Amino acid sequence: MSIYGDYIKSVIRTVPDWPQPGVNFRDITPLLQNSAAFRKLIDSFVHRYQEMDLDAIAAIDARGFIVGAPLAYELGCSFVPVRKKGKLPFRTISETYTLEYGEAEVELHSDAFKQGDRILIVDDLIATGGTMLAAAKLITRSGGQVVETATIVDLPDLGGSERIREAGYSVFAVCA
Ligand code: PRP
Ligand code: HPA
Repeated sequence: MSIYGDYIKSVIRTVPDWPQPGVNFRDITPLLQNSAAFRKLIDSFVHRYQEMDLDAIAAIDARGFIVGAPLAYELGCSFVPVRKKGKLPFRTISETYTLEYGEAEVELHSDAFKQGDRILIVDDLIATGGTMLAAAKLITRSGGQVVETATIVDLPDLGGSERIREAGYSVFAVCA
């Protein structure tokens, strides 16, 4: 949990039964609409990572970009998009992962960073952890050093963050 964790949690809306019955969807749009809250969110990440000597922020398509771009700007790091399949135009490497129904794939440009670069991966939410873990494996396979994986919201009951930690990656969540 971060310095502003309780406050950030209070400005995230839960939408019941969306996109399907039984799912309580965590909607970050009220947080994004609230400029003071959005500033506190980015400050939470800056506070944690400003002394970590990062080379790049790898942000996951699409909601990870909302956090990743201002964080890269503030920390003076490069920004690396980890995108859904078929969106990146140059040479890519990819990692497939399992969804509730079927499979998905994330991609990275092969020249996105230098070997050994210290990389933070960011996204808005960890549910099953499949997306974040696929991104972490992709960056590791590409020769990057995953310093940590970071999210605004962790849903620990779904076991994703535990799964990511069991795979050997550190996880930071602003709130749960
Ligand atoms: C959501 C969310 C995470 C992922 C979390 O993205 O933004 O990336 O799912 O789920 P997981 O931990 O079970 O993998 P989504 O695929 O809905 O994409 P979007 O950001 O483009 O809306
Ligand atoms: N909110 C946002 N994205 C998600 C969620 C959620 O509750 N579950 C899986 N992806």
